[in-house]
Amino acid sequence: MSVDWSERYQSGETPWEKGEPHPELPFLLSAHHEILGNAERVLVPGCGFGHDAQLIHAVTRANVLGLDLAQEPIEQAKQRYCKKGLAWTVGDLFDWPGRYDLVFEHTCFCAIPIERRGDYAAAMARLIQPGGHLLGIFFLNPDHEGEEGPPFGVTLDELEGFFGEDFALEWSQEPSQTYEGREGEGRELSMLWRRKNC
Ligand SMILES: C[S@@+](CC[C@H](N)C(=O)[O-])C[C@H]1O[C@@H](n2cnc3c(N)ncnc32)[C@H](O)[C@@H]1O
Repeated sequence: MSVDWSERYQSGETPWEKGEPHPELPFLLSAHHEILGNAERVLVPGCGFGHDAQLIHAVTRANVLGLDLAQEPIEQAKQRYCKKGLAWTVGDLFDWPGRYDLVFEHTCFCAIPIERRGDYAAAMARLIQPGGHLLGIFFLNPDHEGEEGPPFGVTLDELEGFFGEDFALEWSQEPSQTYEGREGEGRELSMLWRRKNC
C-alpha cells in the first residue's frame, strides 16, 4: 500500500507526530557520544517535523540534514528549527545523493512499502561512508492488530537480513524510554550498525 504522505500531513492524520524527539534519543546520543561527536555530516531521512534532527544537531553540533518526501513538515521544521548547521530539504531518500558519517533512522524504515526494504538498505549503504554508522530506533511491532500498515512491523532476523550484508551490528538494546502508547516489550529496538569497508 502506498501512502500519500503530503495528504496525511494536510489532513492532520499523523499519529507518529509526538511534538518532541524520541524519549530515548538523549540516552543514545550520550551512550554513543564518541561516534556522534566525530560525525561531521548527519542525515535524518523521513525526519517529519524534525524534532530528532534538531536534538542531534543541538547535542553534536554536526551538520545535520533533515530530509522528507513531504513538503508540509519540512516547511514547519524550517520555521521552527532555524539554526546554522541544521538544514531541511524535501526529497526522496531512495535517490538522495551524498555521503554521510551517520544516518539516524526513526520510524522511516517502518513507513516505507515492505517491497522496498531491500532498496532502503541499499540506499543506506550508498549514503553512509565506509566506517560510518546507521543509528536507528526501529519499530519492530506496531501492534495494530488487524489494521494494515504503515507502520509495517519487522523482525530482528529480517533486519539482519536486510542490513547484514553491508553493515555490521555493533550494538542493540530495547529503549528504556519511549512515547506514551508505544510501551511494551519488544516493540522497538535501538540499533547501531557500522558500514563495512568494501
Ligand atoms: C511515520 S513518519 C515518521 C516521521 C518522523 N521520523 C517521526 O518519527 O516523527 C514517516 C516519514 O517518512 C517520510 N517518508 C516516507 N517515504 C520517504 C522517502 N522515500 N524519502 C523521504 N522521506 C520519506 C514521510 O513523509 C513521513 O514524514
